[in-house]
Amino acid sequence: MTVTANEKPVPGGNFVKVELDDGIAWVKLNRPEKRNAMSVGLAEEMVKVLDDLEIDDRCGVVILTGEGEAFSAGMDLKDFFRATDNVSDIERMRAYRSTRAWQWRMLMHYAKPTIAMVNGWCFGGAFTPLICCDLAIASDDAVFGLSEINWGVIPGGVVSKAISTLMNDRKAMYYVMTGEKFGGKMAEQLGLVNESVPADRLRERTTELARILLAKNPTVLRQARMAYKYVREMTWEESAEYLTAKADQTTFIDPEKGREKGLSQFLDDKTFRPGHGTYIREG
Ligand code: COA
Repeated sequence: MTVTANEKPVPGGNFVKVELDDGIAWVKLNRPEKRNAMSVGLAEEMVKVLDDLEIDDRCGVVILTGEGEAFSAGMDLKDFFRATDNVSDIERMRAYRSTRAWQWRMLMHYAKPTIAMVNGWCFGGAFTPLICCDLAIASDDAVFGLSEINWGVIPGGVVSKAISTLMNDRKAMYYVMTGEKFGGKMAEQLGLVNESVPADRLRERTTELARILLAKNPTVLRQARMAYKYVREMTWEESAEYLTAKADQTTFIDPEKGREKGLSQFLDDKTFRPGHGTYIREG
């Protein structure tokens, strides 16, 4: 954990590096010499970092990325797999719990928007946090792979479930069964990332996207993200009931009163046309 000029500590430690820049929290997996392979220590640190940033006013958007040439080479084969082979059930359970906590439970329902910026190697277990971020941008020269089949394991953890939420079955099965690698453009075609851009545009484009999100009404943005994620698991009837209640809740809790202001700008003042311009926030 480092300390800024105003003495408020910046979250992070040995394995996770955080940089705060004008509303954006750059959260970096920070084991470049191990291609950011995810160890037990990294998982424990990441849980704390995400927990701290969620209530840190300096963070409006999280960008998850990797230090050095990798996004992440997946689960650490030594400091996660081998390290949990010969420990007590309780220690093993705790290691799995930290990993599950940050890679999908926290990211999937995180209070702030999240973008994965895939800057390089992205293998196996790294697909889970990638998919559980709201949005993702890759470098054209990033390399993705479900390599598990090539060294005697299945895409476990929760990788197989994660890919089934974004990839179609034929494509997902193809990569599960062949372990073939693919690049950023293919990741875009497969729906794993929103866009793939040249390496020298990656940071700029990801920052641009984060700035778009930072300009939105944060309460409504959070409610919209949550609503979308929850309805994926619901029936149409349940979704209709839930979304109506969620919309009412959003209106009720929004300190900016965005709905009333938006309606007024459109209907009364005629200063805003959703199809033409941008709602003028005063918050
Ligand atoms: N687990 C543990 N250590 C890993 C790792 C992983 N998943 N991925 C890389 N490392 C370590 C290497 O063992 C090496 O450590 P060392 O310096 O102590 O020998 C170091 O990171 C650098 O890796 P190296 O293979 O030399 O780098 P590279 O740039 O030539 O290749 C990769 C990078 C990512 C292509 C290659 O390391 C690789 O294939 N990793 C495994 C990817 C994988 O299958 N992950 C799935 C796990 S679920």
